[in-house]
Amino acid sequence: MPRVLVTEPIDPAGVAILSQVAQVDQRHNLTAAELQACIGEYDGLLVRSATKVTQGLITAGHNLKIIGRAGVGVDNIDVPAATRQGIVVVNSPEGNTIAAAEQTVALMLALSRYIPQANQLVKAGEWNRKEFLGVEVYKKTLGIVGLGKIGSHVATIARAMGMRLLAYDPFISQERAEQLGCSLMELEVLFREADYITLHIPKTPDTTHLINRESFKKMKPTTRIINCARGGLIDEVALVDAIKAGRIAGAALDVFEQEPPAGSPLLLLGKEVVLTPHLGASTIEAQSNVATDVAEQIRDVLLGLPARSA
Ligand code: MLT
Repeated sequence: MPRVLVTEPIDPAGVAILSQVAQVDQRHNLTAAELQACIGEYDGLLVRSATKVTQGLITAGHNLKIIGRAGVGVDNIDVPAATRQGIVVVNSPEGNTIAAAEQTVALMLALSRYIPQANQLVKAGEWNRKEFLGVEVYKKTLGIVGLGKIGSHVATIARAMGMRLLAYDPFISQERAEQLGCSLMELEVLFREADYITLHIPKTPDTTHLINRESFKKMKPTTRIINCARGGLIDEVALVDAIKAGRIAGAALDVFEQEPPAGSPLLLLGKEVVLTPHLGASTIEAQSNVATDVAEQIRDVLLGLPARSA
C-alpha cells in the first residue's frame, strides 16, 4: 500500500479519503532534519503553509509521486524541482476563498473599531470608552490589490457595506471590474485615494515588498492596510516606520515575512495594529473544502488516474 505523510493538521475528511488508498501518517511537529530523514519512505506528501518543501527535501523524497498543498498557491513548494523529478504538485485554489475574504473584512472592522484591544481591556476589568473612538467604513474608499476569487468576494461584501471600490489588477478586464462595482486604476493612484488597502495577490519576485517605503509616502495619514494574502508583500520595517511616523493610520496583518513574527517590531506597536496568526483559511468549512479537494487529487494520482496540476 502506498504511504502518504501529512505534516500539518488537516480536516479528518481529507485523511479519510487518503486512507481509502494509502497508509496515512500524520506527523505534525517534524523538524526539517526529521522530515528530510523520513521523506524517502513516502509516495505522497500533504502540507499546508508551514512546511517548506525545498529542492533538498524533494531530492530526498525519491519515492514521491505527488505533493499536495491544502490551500491556495504552492509558494512553499519548489515546483520546478518537483517537476524535474516527475512529481505532480496539486493545491486547492478555491476551497478557502470565502474564509479568506471574510477574515479580511473582519480585520478591516476590527482595525477600525479597536475590537481586539477593547476586548482585552474589558477582560482585564477596565471600562474605557474614550480610548476607542473608531471610524466607519461606510462611504470610505477600499483599494483592492488583486481582483481574483478572494479579492472579488471582498469587493462584494464591501460594496454591500456602502464602500467605494477601487482595484488594481493588470490581469482583469474593465468589464469584470465594473461587474464587481470596482474602478480599475494604476497602483499609484489607488495608494493615493484609498482609505483602506487590502492585498489579494500571490507573493512572487515581482510582488515582494509591493508596498514599500515609497508607497507609504503616497498614502493618506488615515489609510489602513490589511494583508491576509502573503507575508512579504509589505516591507514590514517600512510599515512600522510609517505607522510610528503617523504616515498611515494602521494595519491588520494575518501573514508575516517570518511566521511566527518573533521579535518583530510590529509586536511593540499599539492599537493601530491588529495581528492574527495566519488564520485566513481557518474555518471549519474552508478546512473541510481544502482537505477534501487535495486528498481527492492525491488519491487519484496514487490510483494512477490523471491529475489536475497546480
Ligand atoms: C492558503 O494559502 O490557502 C493558506 O495560507 C493555507 C494555510 O492556512 O495554511
